[in-house]
Amino acid sequence: MGMLYYNSSSAENIMGKKLILVTGSSGLIGSEVVADFASQGWTVHGLDNNMRANFFGPQGDTRWNLHRMQQTYPRFQHHELDIRDRAGVMELLQELRPQAIVHTAAQPSHDLAASRPLDDFDVNAVGTLNMLEAARRACPEAPFIHMSTNKVYGDAPNEIPLKEMDKRWDYADPAYYDGIRENFRIDRSKHSIFGASKVAADIMVQEYGRYFGMPTCCLRAGCLTGPSHSAVELHGFLSYLVRVNLTGSNYNVYGYQGKQVRDNIHSFDVAEFAERFFAAPRCAEMYNIGGGRRNSCSILEAFESKN
Ligand SMILES: NC(=O)c1ccc[n+]([C@@H]2O[C@H](COP(=O)([O-])OP(=O)(O)OC[C@H]3O[C@@H](n4cnc5c(N)ncnc54)[C@H](O)[C@@H]3O)[C@@H](O)[C@H]2O)c1
Repeated sequence: MGMLYYNSSSAENIMGKKLILVTGSSGLIGSEVVADFASQGWTVHGLDNNMRANFFGPQGDTRWNLHRMQQTYPRFQHHELDIRDRAGVMELLQELRPQAIVHTAAQPSHDLAASRPLDDFDVNAVGTLNMLEAARRACPEAPFIHMSTNKVYGDAPNEIPLKEMDKRWDYADPAYYDGIRENFRIDRSKHSIFGASKVAADIMVQEYGRYFGMPTCCLRAGCLTGPSHSAVELHGFLSYLVRVNLTGSNYNVYGYQGKQVRDNIHSFDVAEFAERFFAAPRCAEMYNIGGGRRNSCSILEAFESKN
């Protein structure tokens, strides 16, 4: 989808300058992007205010990951900044004028959003707009990748007929064997407060691509996983499951008999996608990014895979 924005020579210029800004850089995806680009010689600037600890308490604290990156990557520079701080974000972008941006800072949980709708919208929707507008003013040619979510489709995919298997629900219609496509409708469905704030961000990222011609991209993910998640019950499915297993505590299953299926993709694969997109950016793209059927599992299947 979308049109090619750069020819290959301008893409090479972007790769040549090598300064990237990563928001949410102490989180799962942000830190993986930092690691990937820093180890390839890019100067990496990260922006994070550890708001995950404010959202989820001590288990969500990301400082351990920030310290790990500061020790491992000498060219990594951290900025303690809130994406809701519009003036601060404008100033930072003017100062850095990065050649590429990966925006992962967010309030990432449905359940938490229901108890803090204002914070959720301010971070996810307005914070993303702050980043987009700052990028438009400072570096409109820089490819801008936004971490969106499959929750933009709300519960509309639940209208697709399912068949019940032993350990999972599966699509009854083989047309959906590999999941839904990006042109699946995103309105007239229930999203949760979180899904709605992410729809607002997703549409705005597309709009900065279509309307202003910026090379923007939304990645609509299912479950993201990897070694650097500060996992909590409300966010970080596989990582939290492993933690519960290691500590011998209980994992609560909420509905669907544990047969609900999740697509899982490793954070490293997301970082690799960013590399490919920067090498050949397009305008107003959106992708359902996932591990595919082979990396999908229901909760019951995930329980079993420990054996
Ligand atoms: N993890 C998943 O399963 C998953 C699935 C689909 C989509 N996503 C999306 O991917 C993105 C990254 O997810 P993640 O799992 O890496 O999340 P994460 O919580 O591990 O990382 C997000 C980081 O952003 C920071 N942050 C939060 N609010 C901030 C603010 N106001 N200013 C500055 N920093 C702030 C947090 O402190 C945290 O370090 C999010 O947009 C999320 O919605 C995640």
